[in-house]
Amino acid sequence: MIEKQNSNITISEVKKQQQYMQKMKAFLWDWEQKTGQKQSYFVLTTGCQMNAHDSEKLAGMLETMGYVKSPTEENADFVIYNTCCIRENAEEKVYGRLGRLKYYKKQNKNMKIALCGCMTQQDVVIEKLQKSYKFIDIVFGTFNLYKLPELLYHSMQTEGTLFDIWKEAGEIVEDIPTMYQSAFQASVNVTYGCENFCSYCIVPYVRGKERSRKPEDILHEVEQLAQNGIKEIMLLGQNVNSYGKNLEHPLSFAKLLQKINQVEGIERIRFMTSHPKDLSDELIETIKNCKKVCNYIHLPIQSGSSEILKRMNRRYTKEQYLELVQKLKNAIPDITISTDIIVGFPGETEQDFQETLDVIRQVKYCTAFTFIYSKRTGTPAAKMEQQVPEEVVKDRFNRLLQVLNPIVEEVHQKQVGTIANVLVEEVSKQNSAILTGRMENNILVHFEGNKDCIGKILPIKITDNKTFYVIGERIG
Ligand code: SAH
Ligand code: SF4
Ligand code: F3S
Repeated sequence: MIEKQNSNITISEVKKQQQYMQKMKAFLWDWEQKTGQKQSYFVLTTGCQMNAHDSEKLAGMLETMGYVKSPTEENADFVIYNTCCIRENAEEKVYGRLGRLKYYKKQNKNMKIALCGCMTQQDVVIEKLQKSYKFIDIVFGTFNLYKLPELLYHSMQTEGTLFDIWKEAGEIVEDIPTMYQSAFQASVNVTYGCENFCSYCIVPYVRGKERSRKPEDILHEVEQLAQNGIKEIMLLGQNVNSYGKNLEHPLSFAKLLQKINQVEGIERIRFMTSHPKDLSDELIETIKNCKKVCNYIHLPIQSGSSEILKRMNRRYTKEQYLELVQKLKNAIPDITISTDIIVGFPGETEQDFQETLDVIRQVKYCTAFTFIYSKRTGTPAAKMEQQVPEEVVKDRFNRLLQVLNPIVEEVHQKQVGTIANVLVEEVSKQNSAILTGRMENNILVHFEGNKDCIGKILPIKITDNKTFYVIGERIG
């Protein structure tokens, strides 16, 4: 009964937003009649793939209203920043750009500005915006992204900043219009939020408790995407391995993958992020047996020291992680593994750091995203004593790269001589005669070709290694 009520709320919310989109459409049409010009939008995204996908929804709603995409920020009529706060520098970047945006708005009085995403879910940020960023028109958060049409419409009628920040998530809202960036690759949410509370991480506070989408909604979306020519799906969640546990009819992530594997037209399935503590044998078997599920996994270790992992609240030890990697490699010998590593977590000793280097040497990652620990207000780690001095962290960070890079090169060198199916993504930014694409194992390939190949999966012979990517030749 309650379930039904909740979904009714969602449906009426979607309808309400559709009505606001229509109202905005009429408003923008009137504007065009008066001025002879369409209003344009510009979306800036910082942060992870989750945010990038949210921005596709923002753009989808804006285009439904009648806005057209502006190539530049300064000339846009509506500018929206979809923000990240995972590390301090992510926030600094936004504040820096807001300074410039204030200047653009002075030149173009009609410009509307909105700020949304993870940053705005923090009280300290809201206080700062209220005090010093009065030129922003709309501020909303991660839980009410779908309300953009309503907020924009109200903002057109009022002066001053409109704040609409929710403390927690409501029901999952489906069917938000989405403007996909690519014609052949698409992201699909499987879970929202996170409740792992790793002690350094702000995500659980700004994205709320974990919610799984219903499998039928996910499958429906994937089928639609396949019908529209999408070949590669990226399933998104902060911890995809815990998908489905709280559904009315629980379903494991592995089972979800098996269902998606059957969708005709989809050729590759990727997913991120996998938390090591929840990676099941069933999932390993599924990666092995499902043809479309790529033989690649992003498996963040964060630190190689069991003591630090404990204080990070990661809930696995170095030994358990290495065991998991061994299981993956035994089951799927050609699997590639990437990771995230934090250097300089409070209390990290040289010995702890050496443990991290040891894991890197043992696992042999194809890529690692390496971060310097950043103190996030409100997280347990921010209150921990023994913050590591900056120069020590910097030195460790450099030494980490010195160990990591030759290993990444070794993994890439192993590909030389093989023939791989490569999904061609784009023309190289450095050289227009070169195309870039990815092997199933996520390794980046550069090869000569013309742009008609973009979106195709081609057999490529790998001929050379360039540390962070490989060179190939088309053979068919
Ligand atoms: N849900 C994913 C990670 C999302 S955040 C997971 O659990 O793996 C992406 C990465 O940012 C994390 O894996 C971590 O390495 C890094 N990160 C998160 N908080 C950080 C902080 N306070 N300082 C530095 N890096 C951080
Ligand atoms: Fe952050 Fe940990 Fe959740 Fe990942 S699993 S988003 S690192 S709290
Ligand atoms: Fe950043 Fe939010 Fe993603 S904090 S990393 S944009 S979930």
